[in-house]
Amino acid sequence: MVNLRSLGFFRGIAECIVSTYNLDGSFNAAPMGVSLSNDNLIVRPFKATRTYRNLKHYGCCVINVSDRAELFYLTVFKDSLPKEWFDKGKKVNAPRLVLADLWIEAEVKSLDSISQDRAQFALEAKEIYFKLKKPKVYKRSNHALMESVIHATRIKLYLKKKEYNKANGLINLVNHYYSLVKRVAPDSKHERLMKELIKSIDKWSKIYGPSKEPILNSSLEL
Ligand SMILES: Cc1cc2nc3c(=O)[nH]c(=O)nc-3n(C[C@H](O)[C@H](O)[C@H](O)COP(=O)(O)O)c2cc1C
Repeated sequence: MVNLRSLGFFRGIAECIVSTYNLDGSFNAAPMGVSLSNDNLIVRPFKATRTYRNLKHYGCCVINVSDRAELFYLTVFKDSLPKEWFDKGKKVNAPRLVLADLWIEAEVKSLDSISQDRAQFALEAKEIYFKLKKPKVYKRSNHALMESVIHATRIKLYLKKKEYNKANGLINLVNHYYSLVKRVAPDSKHERLMKELIKSIDKWSKIYGPSKEPILNSSLEL
């Protein structure tokens, strides 16, 4: 089997998408940081996530690897995911995201509670396979969207916890990335997704922000 280090997994965090079956058999996928420790892949989901619940129940998952920011966007802010996006795993009882480039089918070796809210799974890779990929040009908009998606997950959390200064700081960063995307990738899929993301942030700030007003008017400048 392919060596996990040669794929770029290391002690630090590789951003991946973990796919599992929900308890009713429907499909789930969510971005999760994955690191490597003693040849095990380490995933640390919050206990409130479906990924935690599904991994605990089924004892397996597929780790989907991709550098396409839109896949992270589409799997983090979702209600349900279309079944056409998935195929069956070969060795484990978990689905894989067909749009990814590399798939690691893995089984749970151990589960630890690392805090009140968070758990840690050590996973053993059972099967690794990948797509042959055409080389592509480097686009700053991909990374701008990816950073914005990560910030957006925290913005929602900070707004809910009434930590408005922290939320504001991240909203400023997302606005900065949106200006960049408009400049380097006008009329692109990345620009459309950035716009959607900013609309969601604006909606959250109306629901959770102080006095139910958007906390930064600049986030409305679409
Ligand atoms: C790049 C990226 C990495 C993330 N890493 C984690 C992680 O390591 N653990 C976690 O619990 N949530 C992480 N999240 C947030 C989850 O993806 C998010 O809470 C998601 O909605 C959980 O979905 P689920 O309930 O379907 O599992 C990450 C989000 C992004 C965008």
